[in-house]
Amino acid sequence: MDSKLLIEKAKEAQKLSYSPYSHFAVGAAIALKDGKVILGANIENASYGLSMCAERNALYATYLQGYKKEDICALALYATSDKLVTPCGACRQVLQELFPLDAPIYIETSNGDSLNTTIKELLPYAFDEENL
Ligand code: THU
Repeated sequence: MDSKLLIEKAKEAQKLSYSPYSHFAVGAAIALKDGKVILGANIENASYGLSMCAERNALYATYLQGYKKEDICALALYATSDKLVTPCGACRQVLQELFPLDAPIYIETSNGDSLNTTIKELLPYAFDEENL
């Protein structure tokens, strides 16, 4: 799927965000090889630490629908911000295990900033199952 179209899906996903504490709504969309797109948004909680990011929600939803790393083409991320928003450290750790290392990650923010990257680039020297 075209990167612009996938970013549009991430914008759609942003509308599903439940973020009454941070007021920082994030949307994510994962494109699959079979043409499906799985959405994710951040879902917060009054017990702040229980909040879950858009990227991890999208990735977990993907696996819960029976898909695996090999079925994934790309991830798009969209947030409303004056500065480019990249995945947090926890999401990078989860992505490097469950998302293809070289698959494109398209990021865009409302100020027009954008970045096309990969999890390999975002998390070099990662701790993974081979370290165990
Ligand atoms: N957040 C995401 O969902 N993804 C990111 O890449 C950055 C941060 C969420 C977590 C929290 O609900 C809010 O944004 C503020 O940190």
